[in-house]
Amino acid sequence: MKKYLVIGNPIEHSLSPKLHNHWFEKNNINAIYNKKQINEIDIKDIISELRNDKINGINVTVPFKQSIIPFVDELSAEANNAQSVNTVYKENNKVFGHNTDISGFELAMRGKSYDIKGKKIFILGAGGVVPSIILALKKMGANKIILSNRTKKKAEQLKKTFSDLEIVDWGVTPEFNMIINATSLGLNKEDEIKLDYAGLGPNKLFYDVIYNPKETKFLSKAKQFGNQTENGKMMFIYQAHQAFTLWHKVMPKIDEETIKLLD
Ligand code: ATR
Repeated sequence: MKKYLVIGNPIEHSLSPKLHNHWFEKNNINAIYNKKQINEIDIKDIISELRNDKINGINVTVPFKQSIIPFVDELSAEANNAQSVNTVYKENNKVFGHNTDISGFELAMRGKSYDIKGKKIFILGAGGVVPSIILALKKMGANKIILSNRTKKKAEQLKKTFSDLEIVDWGVTPEFNMIINATSLGLNKEDEIKLDYAGLGPNKLFYDVIYNPKETKFLSKAKQFGNQTENGKMMFIYQAHQAFTLWHKVMPKIDEETIKLLD
């Protein structure tokens, strides 16, 4: 039986096993997908297990998307551009690091029929998933990307890769068409992102990378003041879909049942 794994820390919240195991069943694939909480020191051994075919594929989540890079043999163009790996596999005796977050975000936006072209986008946060989101936004023709992070140094670090990024202090709100919460604020139900929600709306798109809880305060407040909202669920499903297709050469279905599974 083939074995797949998502690694991260923390990992208990991950819904990847639920989704991949569902698709195994639907596609009669004899495999199992588990989650494993690890420390950075464990990455080397896990990659060795992949090399020795004890594991057949790995998804990587916070906070190892970058720190796994030195342990793989080759990066895909996407992973290299984002300096972020979320999918690992072995082919022709080489370990490859790939990134399906970029296309995951792009497909989620296209699925929502939201046209990024010409839009001003304001990103909150500078964590692991942000370079992937920036690359997808640029690919879709965003006019301007502005970013703010509590620790400004991390935002400025991103500017080294994306020189046209505009950085604003944490607490400053520029003009925007779409705002993206890419911080971990909202994972706890009571977390709040301080914004002038009443003054900002209406008719903007508020996007939260978080999908569990389904509706963060950031999204419920935005809705209250007449804005469109979207959580990170479809991005999550699409990134998993791309990893699954890559590993199994089978394209699983994304239907109502799949989407409900993650509620
Ligand atoms: P990592 O930084 O390890 O990749 P992440 O979950 O992807 O982890 O990123 C967490 C993001 O949420 C960061 O942008 C973090 O800001 P800092 O860089 O200042 O740590 C942000 N974040 C977490 N808690 C926050 C809080 N209480 N207020 C504001 N931002 C917060």
